Amino acid sequence: MSRRAKVTVQTLAEMKRRGEKIVMLTAYDYATAVLEDKSGVDVMLVGDSVGMVVLGYENTIPVTLEEIVHHLKAVARARPRALLVGDLPFMSYQAGVPDAVRNAGRLVKEGGAEAVKLEGGKRMEPVIRAILDAAIPVMGHVGLTPQSLHQFGGYRVQGKEPRDAALLVEEAQFLAACGCFAIVVEGMPWQVAERITAAVSIPTIGIGAGPRCDGQVLVVNDLLGMNDEFAPRFVKRYAEMGKQMSAAFDAYIRDVKDGRFPDLDHSYSSE
Ligand code: KIV
Repeated sequence: MSRRAKVTVQTLAEMKRRGEKIVMLTAYDYATAVLEDKSGVDVMLVGDSVGMVVLGYENTIPVTLEEIVHHLKAVARARPRALLVGDLPFMSYQAGVPDAVRNAGRLVKEGGAEAVKLEGGKRMEPVIRAILDAAIPVMGHVGLTPQSLHQFGGYRVQGKEPRDAALLVEEAQFLAACGCFAIVVEGMPWQVAERITAAVSIPTIGIGAGPRCDGQVLVVNDLLGMNDEFAPRFVKRYAEMGKQMSAAFDAYIRDVKDGRFPDLDHSYSSE
């Protein structure tokens, strides 16, 4: 069977023009990346969400560049057809332009990313322009940007007031004018995401932003139902892996304790 063509930033622009939805999903390890790619995901994001869903941090703030590079390398070994995007973690791009360019470069050069994502609008202009000058495609991210958690005072839906909604549209237009190839729009009323999508020529990828974006992204652990306790409105679970894993662990423990495993069917014989 012939492999579909590699997804590039140009492919995504084409998809927006054609009105074809873009499917983005996070990945943090080789095995999951292989399966996601086999299913035909368009964009794979090694997001700083790795800190919360894999490394057990309370939020994304403590995630380091080294941690993103480590997980990017694992995902890149799957040689995905999907466009591979690496997330710039908190304080890897906010402190200054040279720092930001060097760190974006590390995600590409060491990690194997084909593009980087960073959070923020207008205030990120010098950083975005410098990373683009280094020939690294940039994905923007506006709305409920988790790295601004403390400034927001919690995970609050953004753009509910007309003035704030207008600001979000402006921020997105600004990112498009800067040269970003796509924008994640997170945690906002669907009407605001719809306005942004109509106002920019580049693809919008929604999360908690309703159905009127050019594409959708989810954290893979949420889609798989790995964490029973995490059930925000915007997540749709396509499996109950957490429950299935617990059932498998319980059964294994019972089998070993009761002497049912290993049995002779699962043992080598000298005969
Ligand atoms: O880190 C992440 O997974 C993200 C997505 C939710 C967009 O930024």
